[in-house]
Amino acid sequence: MTGQTLAVEVSAIEQVTPLIKHFTLRSVDGGPLPAFSGGSHIIVVMRTARRTHRNPYSLLSSPADLDSYEIGVRRMEESRGGSHFMHDHLRVGGRLEIAHPVNLFALDKRARKHVLIAGGIGITPFLAQLEDLAADGARYELHYSVRSPEHAAFVERLQTGHGGRVRMYHDSAGDCIDFEGLLAAQPLGTHVYVCGPKGMIDRVIGTARACGWSNSHIHWEQFSAPPAGDAFEVFLARSQRSVNVLPDQSLLEAIEAAGVEVPYLCRGGVCGFCHTRVLESDGELLHHDHFLSDAERSRGKSIMPCVSRARGRHVVLDL
Ligand code: FES
Repeated sequence: MTGQTLAVEVSAIEQVTPLIKHFTLRSVDGGPLPAFSGGSHIIVVMRTARRTHRNPYSLLSSPADLDSYEIGVRRMEESRGGSHFMHDHLRVGGRLEIAHPVNLFALDKRARKHVLIAGGIGITPFLAQLEDLAADGARYELHYSVRSPEHAAFVERLQTGHGGRVRMYHDSAGDCIDFEGLLAAQPLGTHVYVCGPKGMIDRVIGTARACGWSNSHIHWEQFSAPPAGDAFEVFLARSQRSVNVLPDQSLLEAIEAAGVEVPYLCRGGVCGFCHTRVLESDGELLHHDHFLSDAERSRGKSIMPCVSRARGRHVVLDL
């Protein structure tokens, strides 16, 4: 994906927890928005005076309703600007550009049962998936863990639409998901899906594997935000350009700001679409993606510029 966007207007904003705002977006021309399936995300383009941010957000609205899209945005303390823009500057009536929805966290419709496990803001992709599962008459359950009741987003919607299939867990009450008990007790043919903090995702994957689940039945979504770091410079060999990457800017953002397009889908180190060849490097490549293998990393010939950085004075990319 490079450059194709839709113009949308913010039609509603609601603060749903102390840290999460819920945004409703409608097409500027009033027409229906592109179809999507549960688990899809969009890239929201935010143009500020200083910088263009492109952040991925899961669609949480029903895939059956294309009059609007809904997203939930958590205010990040370490924000590079995107979540602060959404929380502090965006108003009802404000306009944004968004990229077409892409699904990197799709339900496997062959599953006999679906177990969904969410932590915090990780609830958002499941809200749309639950609508798909209910419409299909599928067998499913959701386990949703939050810090405390005030941090539980969209609970009324969950309980109204999916009542007895939703189990809430509050860390503040010492109520934690028993991953071993939950995953060991599932019938054959169950698929598990997890979205939330890295520790939770690792725990679910590790527990499911230890219980004998096949990898094809374990699904997770773990987009990384590009971490800040020291400024560095790269040279783009095909474009014959030098690009300075600022401490709070991703390599991909710096390349785009220089007018060079790189394909992307997730901007979170997951999909592999932004894979870029490293032609020369006299320093260290700081990999933050979830895509490259250890062998590919140690060869030092590839980088995912959406989340990864470099250290060194001479880094040449095949762009
Ligand atoms: S855009 Fe998906 S890994 Fe970079």
